[in-house]
Amino acid sequence: MNVLGIHLGHDANAALIMNGKIVADIMEERFSRVKHSADPPRNAVAACLAMGNIRADELDIIAITGQNLHKDIEYIFRLQDLERFPTYFKRYSLTPATQLKNYDHHMCHAACAYYLSPFSDPALICVSDGFGDDCSISLWTGQGTSMSLLKKYPSEGSLGWFYSNVTEALGWIHGDGEGKTMALAAKGDPANAYNALGDFCPRYHDGELKKPHHFGSICKVTERGAIQWHMPDAAKIRGLISRFTREELAASAQELIEENHLSLCTHWLQRTGLERLCLAGGVFLNIILNRKLAGTVPLNKLFIYPNPGDSGLALGAALCALSEYAPEELPRSLDSPYLGPNFTDQEILYTLRQRKIRFTEHHGDSLIETVARALSENLCVGWFQGRMETGPRALGNRSILMNPCHAENQKYINTRVKFREPFRPFCPSILDTDRDRYLVEKDNAPYMILAFNSPEQVRARIGAVVHVDGTIRPQIVTSIGNPLFHRMLRAFKKLTGQGILLNTSFNLGGEPLVCTPEDAIRCFYSSGMDMLVLGPFVISKQEP
Ligand SMILES: [Fe+2]
Repeated sequence: MNVLGIHLGHDANAALIMNGKIVADIMEERFSRVKHSADPPRNAVAACLAMGNIRADELDIIAITGQNLHKDIEYIFRLQDLERFPTYFKRYSLTPATQLKNYDHHMCHAACAYYLSPFSDPALICVSDGFGDDCSISLWTGQGTSMSLLKKYPSEGSLGWFYSNVTEALGWIHGDGEGKTMALAAKGDPANAYNALGDFCPRYHDGELKKPHHFGSICKVTERGAIQWHMPDAAKIRGLISRFTREELAASAQELIEENHLSLCTHWLQRTGLERLCLAGGVFLNIILNRKLAGTVPLNKLFIYPNPGDSGLALGAALCALSEYAPEELPRSLDSPYLGPNFTDQEILYTLRQRKIRFTEHHGDSLIETVARALSENLCVGWFQGRMETGPRALGNRSILMNPCHAENQKYINTRVKFREPFRPFCPSILDTDRDRYLVEKDNAPYMILAFNSPEQVRARIGAVVHVDGTIRPQIVTSIGNPLFHRMLRAFKKLTGQGILLNTSFNLGGEPLVCTPEDAIRCFYSSGMDMLVLGPFVISKQEP
């Protein structure tokens, strides 16, 4: 069965499952170059069909997020001959054999969290985001190839909106800057602004929404292809900045969402007697919150979907369709996060020659050694290899890499490469054989979705990737998961003694991850990177 998933709206995206295999999963922003693009994902759909080598009329099901059919689907598929589309506007034609199906927003989040978890036994699923379809937080049970709803909480229970309102009050974008609030929270005392901020936050107790919060009238506008939200609370919270520091406000907001999610998950785990917990929804991009929730179940019984925001919804919709129509074909793991486009050496070469860019060409060990040596000499390297990652994190195919042993590299990349706030922390990629050296906890961590503690004795040695609270948000790299990146980490270790690299997404601040060689070249020459590696081709700003 061929199932195409589509999410229209914030973080629009498309995903393709063919005969039980996840073939492609990609956001529209990677093509439109507008972060969180809400355009109908025409480019993402085209890329999915190309990666699957399939025509639209060969699709069995098109699974769309949302309880009602989104009218913008007409921008992608010819469902009727509407006059508002000029004849040159290409839309895919379908045959009557293709079914169009709709699936609830939270159910799509839950589907990623449960079906792609490593659990075959029953699990509790918690979904938390701003608001999707008719709820803000939902609890589900997953068993076998189906899920059932336990409880939905309304918009007045939105912990996601509360956190986003604090984010906007601190001067960042609602629905985008929440990671900055989380990073700032580590620098403040959560006790000081706790009571004052509590007035803006819904409260949960014993599984009930004890104190609903009315968020007032919501302003939602689409600006340059992305949705912007503004709520009255943001202005009121901004008024608290004269009484508290920004760090204190961030820390209290973090404390409030942690204790409420902890209360909810603990309650529902006890009430259902379930021992496994699966998480999805944009709120679980908050890796410090995830660390707190890791206290409710053993780490090997916790699964956080690595693409938990709305950018994971298209795949969730496709999973819902398979659960309904072909449960025997339902994929039960995320085998690889590398589900975006690939570019051949010939395509990259064409781009380089077209731009008259000087390069050297290296293959095999020569490539690995050239890049590892540059990193050991503290150069900042743009690393572009193979298929682009799905989800928000660079996992070694569209990455900016640097030596983590020099603490000042954190500031260097923030200010000279990505042009963003100097306090923003970075994640490391760690060689699987060196995990115990850098992390206290022994569990697997392939996706940078959970904060781990670092042993005190190594913190000073890898200062560029340890946050002020002593945590690390790692990607453990295995030779099976990413063979080329694993070889590079080994080569770097041979030169420096450290099996760890600073790895941040290949983009400038405020931009989507680079997708094409052209994107990577533009980003390289717009930033303080020293070296760009596009497949086997190495470009250096230092003249030989
Ligand atoms: Fe959502």
